[in-house]
Amino acid sequence: MKNLNNKKIIIGITGGIASYKVCELIRLLIKTGADVRVILTPNAREFVTETTLSTLTKNQVFCEQFYPAEWKPEHISLADDADLLLIAPASANTIGKIANGICDNLLTSVATAFSKQVILAPAMNCNMWDNPFVQQNIKKLEQHGYQIIMPESGNLACGYEGVGRLADVQVIFDFIIKNFEKKKILSGKKILITAGGTKEPIDPVRYIGNRSSGKMGIAIADAAYEYGADVSLISTVDANKPYFVFKVNTAIEMYESVKKHFCNTDVLIMAAAVADFRPVDFYKNKIKKENKDMLVVELVKNPDILKEMAAIKKSRQIIVGFCAESKNVTGYALKKLDEKNLDFIVANDISLTDSGFNSDFNEIIIINKTKQQHRLARKTKQELGYLILQDIFDIKDCGND
Ligand code: CTP
Repeated sequence: MKNLNNKKIIIGITGGIASYKVCELIRLLIKTGADVRVILTPNAREFVTETTLSTLTKNQVFCEQFYPAEWKPEHISLADDADLLLIAPASANTIGKIANGICDNLLTSVATAFSKQVILAPAMNCNMWDNPFVQQNIKKLEQHGYQIIMPESGNLACGYEGVGRLADVQVIFDFIIKNFEKKKILSGKKILITAGGTKEPIDPVRYIGNRSSGKMGIAIADAAYEYGADVSLISTVDANKPYFVFKVNTAIEMYESVKKHFCNTDVLIMAAAVADFRPVDFYKNKIKKENKDMLVVELVKNPDILKEMAAIKKSRQIIVGFCAESKNVTGYALKKLDEKNLDFIVANDISLTDSGFNSDFNEIIIINKTKQQHRLARKTKQELGYLILQDIFDIKDCGND
């Protein structure tokens, strides 16, 4: 099924009559769930208006290289946040600049700073398209991993007939969809993932909880599903997904659910923040504060789900733990790897700002059984979901179909 939920796409529009067709493409992308941001080159503003594009995308349209109010250069924050950059129509001018590292406007700067997939859909006069320098630039871009959606042949707006017409909007749309489809490299693998923070009830109103949002665990489950795995997610947060989701609240419920599904599993990934302790007693009625200056809630230890599963695992099963620490991150991670007998541990530093708990971003260190460390700098949790699986399964070629 075509689904671009959570995908952030930048569409760069350059000065060309075909730019009006991109409005329809944007509509299709948004209908499929994508978050679209548009960058206009100065010439593109002659062909399509910011009002049309911001109304279609429900986002600000970017044109200026510098916005004085922002501390972080716009071209860097835009490039960091997006999953894909599509330039359509891509003029000979913009193609030439990107192929030669020229950054003289916001779009060419974003393209140069962009570390993920860039797709260009050229459109221009047929003689311009045939120009040897334009062709050299196209080849250069292709050699460096840029994808080109070739222009079509037909009647051109300039009165000529030949190759240079922007590829059909549906062709560009299908190309984007295909770009996000992952190779089904984990097909046949059964992966069990836990996500979210457990809630340990005190009375009908209160519980002991933690700040975990479940985003990291859900991102791994999504990535595993995209890779074709047979995914089961045990989660404390609601998630409407195309794979099995088992909703739990407490550590004991998570424990029971993990135990139930574990024997059929190839890999267990415990991304959940499980409460180490739960209240001994559950008060059936709301605890009232009258006549109390102090309230003592006695706690009892919860089972260590990860450790217990590692103790009974078969040799073919892989166990992955997480550890969130505020100091001595690697030291504690190595200790937990050993003590819990894990195959991998994914460590993250919760003292960093806008990373880890409740954030859309994370930076992590993946440590394997032989203590090899793989440090992954700040990335979206979606990206990290794929990268964690690539480490666990030692996947080198992770390209698309
Ligand atoms: N974990 C678990 N069961 C628990 C506690 C933790 O399965 N009762 C799992 C977590 O899902 C995580 C790993 O163990 O994958 C490490 O959790 P963490 O909270 O970092 O460490 P703890 O073992 O609980 O130790 P401490 O809280 O003392 O750091």
